[in-house]
Amino acid sequence: MSRFQLADKVIFITGVAGLLGRVSAKMFLERGAIVVGSDIIPMSQSKELLSLQEKFNSDRFYFIQADVSDEDEVKNVFSQVKEKFGRLDGVFHNAFKQAVKPFVELTLDEWDEAIKGTLTSTFLVNKYAVSMMIPTGGGAIVNTSSVRAQVPTARNVAYGSAKAGIHQLTKVVALEHGGHGIRANVLIPGSFMTDEERHGMGAEKLNIYERKFALGRAGKAEELSEMAAFLLSDAASYVTASLFNVDGGYNLFPAKVSRG
Ligand SMILES: NC(=O)c1ccc[n+]([C@@H]2O[C@H](COP(=O)([O-])OP(=O)(O)OC[C@H]3O[C@@H](n4cnc5c(N)ncnc54)[C@H](O)[C@@H]3O)[C@@H](O)[C@H]2O)c1
Repeated sequence: MSRFQLADKVIFITGVAGLLGRVSAKMFLERGAIVVGSDIIPMSQSKELLSLQEKFNSDRFYFIQADVSDEDEVKNVFSQVKEKFGRLDGVFHNAFKQAVKPFVELTLDEWDEAIKGTLTSTFLVNKYAVSMMIPTGGGAIVNTSSVRAQVPTARNVAYGSAKAGIHQLTKVVALEHGGHGIRANVLIPGSFMTDEERHGMGAEKLNIYERKFALGRAGKAEELSEMAAFLLSDAASYVTASLFNVDGGYNLFPAKVSRG
């Protein structure tokens, strides 16, 4: 069996109803993982999650509706994971919140919401995951960032700042808990789309957009999930405290000057 397999690893995915979350859930399940997926929206609103539930029983794919920026809800999620599976081997944290507005127009409430949904959720999920992994000998954490943490983007200051905060948070988790067998890394996407989204953009707009990528195209969620699967697998046993761009070279694209 390939070391990329995730046989019987219990992996918790946040934002599982989203594009990257649901594609990863499917890939990890197909590679033998037990997936606990969580989202703020109910599973009934996701036809992809309903079809995963149909294919894999609740001992393989278990959904918990929760807001992972709320400490009580996060505590409840992890106590359910402990009760049902007894351990946690991996975390793939995707849930986030944006506030797209010019810098001076962004209100404090909007800033706080985006920081809470993106950075505070990472703190909470990582904190309770680490607490659960320590007694069982460790595990792997992958926190999803964005190239917007590296290339400043106008009208997106809270998101970019929160994602940059995830880089440091992840390194501190790796530093403090390497001795407990815990690895923590960051996945940095540029942009990924479904085929429908690509078609929906129209050829001309898509062509202009995709010039920003060294590889000449936006990514597919599966290409991100592959890196997450590697980082969560035993094949990455010596990989920690690291940032991984999976962005087709988008990070080479310079920031655009914005004057209002
Ligand atoms: N899509 C892209 O092109 C892109 C680019 C760069 C980075 N990213 C990052 O990749 C990750 C996944 O992106 P995606 O495109 O799959 O996003 P998405 O919007 O499709 O999915 C995000 C999911 O998170 C859930 N969510 C939001 N707040 C939550 C909360 N507080 N508690 C629980 N669930 C919550 C949403 O309901 C949604 O299902 C994100 O961290 C995003 O910042 C995405």
